[in-house]
Amino acid sequence: MKGLILSGGTGSRLRPLTYSNAKQLIPVANKPILFRVIESIRDAGIREIGIVVGSTANQIREAVGRGGRWGVSVTYIQQDAPLGLAHAVKVSRDFLGDDRFVMFLGDNVIEGGISPLIAQFADSEWNSQIVLTRIPDPRQYGVAELGEDGRIVNLVEKPQNPPSDLALVGVYMFDANIFKAVNAIKPSWRGELEITDAIQWLVRNNYHVHPYVHRGWWIDTGKREDMLEANDLVLEEIKYGIEGYVDRESQVGRRVMVERGAEIINSVVRGPAIIGENARIVNSYIGPFTSIGNHVTVENSEIEHSMVLGNSEIRDIGTRIQDSLIGSHVVISRSPIKPKALKLSLADYSQVGIL
Ligand code: G1P
Repeated sequence: MKGLILSGGTGSRLRPLTYSNAKQLIPVANKPILFRVIESIRDAGIREIGIVVGSTANQIREAVGRGGRWGVSVTYIQQDAPLGLAHAVKVSRDFLGDDRFVMFLGDNVIEGGISPLIAQFADSEWNSQIVLTRIPDPRQYGVAELGEDGRIVNLVEKPQNPPSDLALVGVYMFDANIFKAVNAIKPSWRGELEITDAIQWLVRNNYHVHPYVHRGWWIDTGKREDMLEANDLVLEEIKYGIEGYVDRESQVGRRVMVERGAEIINSVVRGPAIIGENARIVNSYIGPFTSIGNHVTVENSEIEHSMVLGNSEIRDIGTRIQDSLIGSHVVISRSPIKPKALKLSLADYSQVGIL
């Protein structure tokens, strides 16, 4: 069995972070989402992974390399335009051959424990397995309707009137019959070849598509709020421990990971939280659900429920920072020079909330 990860797209709803990062490389609890996806495929025993890349190909290649770090071999597949998930399957034909495969969207974060599901598909007779989850308003996703016998009756992409509350999660498993489907379907109203339509084609042509209903959490990290929510959830799943230095004046909660080389000086850190490698927290408060990236400095400041990416500095901020997504190499500090005013240097599409 092979793995296929889709890692194209421009991430426009996550600007300005996505000017400098492919959205799949934005770290959640200090680890890029794409790395988490690679690990879950690897944990299912798959060693050959194809990554479909678009305009951010270079960044993805640089970050992932050939996969040796995870003990897998990575092949890059270029998709020249974002023409849909089924189109991505089409362009991956040479890599996939006739093998069964799992396709994972590189910006989806799903609660641990999906690897057995993938392994089970490898040994099954099913032509496809899809993962569904119940959500209150599934209008922006693919939606499945199941019959009384639990089989799939119908699948629709982004329906105005959803036939059920079962959304398609971004993890799909297929055998080579999917190529017949992707070649048979036509582009949707949004001009894309929809994987949902391809799976519906399989159902209509009597291929066996098995629906699995996932009961844990799942987040499609398209927007800022989704990123923070994914960060909250992943922070509850990580390994905790103190690998860095905590001085005697500091209090660090039980559900905190302090990574190698990090220093906590005269500060309070309440978990769940992660303090990245070589970060420095001095005279500060780090509240629950916060990820502090590698080489970040927080001094004389308070921050909670936020993500701070690598190499940023937060100094002498009198007001608590909350619900914030702060990129890398950002400096937030007090300016001693008159006039007393906000002095901002913000990238396009930045958002600042002022008291
Ligand atoms: C895609 C699929 C949709 C699925 C979703 C999961 O949507 O088309 O069926 O529910 O991923 O994240 P898109 O991200 O293209 O809007």
